[in-house]
Amino acid sequence: MTKITSKDSVLDLRAHFGFSVVPFTREIPIKDRWHSEIFDQPLTALRQTIEQRMSGVVLAPSGTGKTVILRTLQAQLPEARYRLHYVKLTSLSKKDLCREIGLAAGFDLSGIYPVVFRMLQQRLRQLDEDGLRPVLLLDDVQDMSPTVLTTLRILTNFDMDSRLVISLVLAGDNQLRHMLESPSLEPIRRRMAHIATLRLLSRAETRDYMQHRVRIAGAPTFPFDSQATDAVFEISRGNLRAIDQLARKSLELAAQKAISTVDPSLVAEARPYVLI
Ligand SMILES: Nc1ncnc2c1ncn2[C@@H]1O[C@H](COP(=O)(O)OP(=O)(O)OP(=O)(O)O)[C@@H](O)[C@H]1O
Ligand SMILES: [Mg+2]
Repeated sequence: MTKITSKDSVLDLRAHFGFSVVPFTREIPIKDRWHSEIFDQPLTALRQTIEQRMSGVVLAPSGTGKTVILRTLQAQLPEARYRLHYVKLTSLSKKDLCREIGLAAGFDLSGIYPVVFRMLQQRLRQLDEDGLRPVLLLDDVQDMSPTVLTTLRILTNFDMDSRLVISLVLAGDNQLRHMLESPSLEPIRRRMAHIATLRLLSRAETRDYMQHRVRIAGAPTFPFDSQATDAVFEISRGNLRAIDQLARKSLELAAQKAISTVDPSLVAEARPYVLI
């Protein structure tokens, strides 16, 4: 018997359904993202927050679109006015954080922590005078230590709150919500002018999302019957990452069995392969 490798199954999947690229992948080009009021409203609010020189936070469970929101903001804000920097490093030290903020501002700073911190303050002031706005997009903030997070507070109010020299957009799950509720991080919480949340998809939105992902992958027809999309919704409960994993695995199984339309039994068969 020939062993089917994951490379083979990707090829099978594409050839079988006529996709030009593999659908339901984790990374999605921002230009191909799915437009929905779920994201449009928080995106507009966060963009306006930054335009008003303030900071915001996105709080939502895992797999609901936080990283895509940060990436979209990065793509939407004009380079002529903003210095944007996306960071997803969970084990940042205080010095690392200052260096990342420095990179957001366009400077590569080195030295010991107090030196880096002071240099950063000076550079941020200068940038502010030049009319350029650094924006730091910090992802998975729940994994950062609270001590490091307090550095943000010191940096964002070094002129006694009169001038907020950098905008922050923090993203994290429920754990971040708890962290921000703790007394030691209260000053950070107060600095968050907007708190955006993301919700799970409804049944109709799940179908819409799946159709979009199939369309951008170049398939000529939608290969799920309506009961199959219902089954994906029931199992995933409208969580985007769970939808992706379940839909992709169902398609792989269909390709392996030479079936042209995914029905609910294939979705059920895919269920044990997916961590939900
Ligand atoms: N606007 C969108 N358009 C298309 N696909 C999206 C969109 N938002 C999210 N997705 C899909 O959902 C998946 C999960 O989104 P994302 O990685 O942004 O979630 P997250 O909330 O950051 O999760 P985690 O907390 O685990 O980091 C992505 O891999 C992508 O496939
Ligand atoms: Mg993420």
